[in-house]
Amino acid sequence: MEQSLKSKARKGPDMRVNIAGVELVSPVIAASGTFGYGVEFEEIVSLERIGAFVTKGLSKEPMAGHPAPRIIETASGMMNAIGLQNMGVKAFVEQKMPRLRQIPGAVVIANIFGFTIHDCLEVINVLNDAPGIAMYELNASCPNTSHGGMVFGTDPKLLDELVFRTERVSTRPLIVKLSPNVTSISQMAKVAQDSGAQALSLVNTFLSMAIDIETRKPRIANVTAGLSGPAIKPIAVRMVYEAAKVVKIPILGMGGILRAEDAVEFMLAGASAVQVGTASYADPRAVENIAAGLKRWCASNDVAEVKKLTGGIVLH
Ligand SMILES: Cc1cc2nc3c(=O)[nH]c(=O)nc-3n(C[C@H](O)[C@H](O)[C@H](O)COP(=O)(O)O)c2cc1C
Repeated sequence: MEQSLKSKARKGPDMRVNIAGVELVSPVIAASGTFGYGVEFEEIVSLERIGAFVTKGLSKEPMAGHPAPRIIETASGMMNAIGLQNMGVKAFVEQKMPRLRQIPGAVVIANIFGFTIHDCLEVINVLNDAPGIAMYELNASCPNTSHGGMVFGTDPKLLDELVFRTERVSTRPLIVKLSPNVTSISQMAKVAQDSGAQALSLVNTFLSMAIDIETRKPRIANVTAGLSGPAIKPIAVRMVYEAAKVVKIPILGMGGILRAEDAVEFMLAGASAVQVGTASYADPRAVENIAAGLKRWCASNDVAEVKKLTGGIVLH
């Protein structure tokens, strides 16, 4: 008895979470677009110590993205208009997946987008044939493209059709990533759930703009960009809270997480897991550090199972 108590204490808190049937060793996940295709980080981050990572958005064909400048720093945040630059889904499967399959404990979530529903279905069909991918995250929310992307995530009818049709062809759990650029996040969350999403990611970046007053030109070549980082955290926490009230599926919360305490806040608001994006630009080891910090936080706050934090907000 004494022995088992001791070994339990040594093991520390149980950090496992289950997202749509996939068990993760930690709720802390690297966010799409900030962690490359994962392989770039294998020397820097121990992939088996983080919950999972989400790839850059993958499209049917390779994309060059928008012209520079496409990233700038702002007060407590970052603006980007990368324009979904990526190598295309086929090259990802052929060039990156063989290595990813060899990395012990690497949990791959493939982020998908398309300009039409048909594009998304084609991307999923290619990924379905590739072993070693745990889940799909469908980006219904990119603010940096003129069609597709955010349009799907801001129109309930389009979102319904997109999720319904993609879920039917997916052989893996489908997470739907929602746009925060909407009036009612609860409505969109409910639509995504009812159309078949097995989990939700929220939020993507907020539509934003900055002007250089000397040249009077936009500071980002694309003119508008997506705002991320600590500046958006309170809005993102509110959106996770509102969505969690109306859906039963797990929510992956994100937006400005820099420290373990930020992750705790998202979980108390209703998130079952969290993603870390912009923080990786300041510190490439941020995701692993936050995962370790969250475990320490749970240990020192008598939280035996991290999953118990989800929805633990005390309102009265
Ligand atoms: C440079 C950059 C590129 C991104 N690219 C993608 C992408 O391809 N697909 C996607 O779903 N989200 C993308 N995102 C959004 C992030 O995954 C995340 O939702 C957002 O940045 C909020 O989290 P953060 O404040 O921790 O960065 C990108 C964000 C940044 C900063």
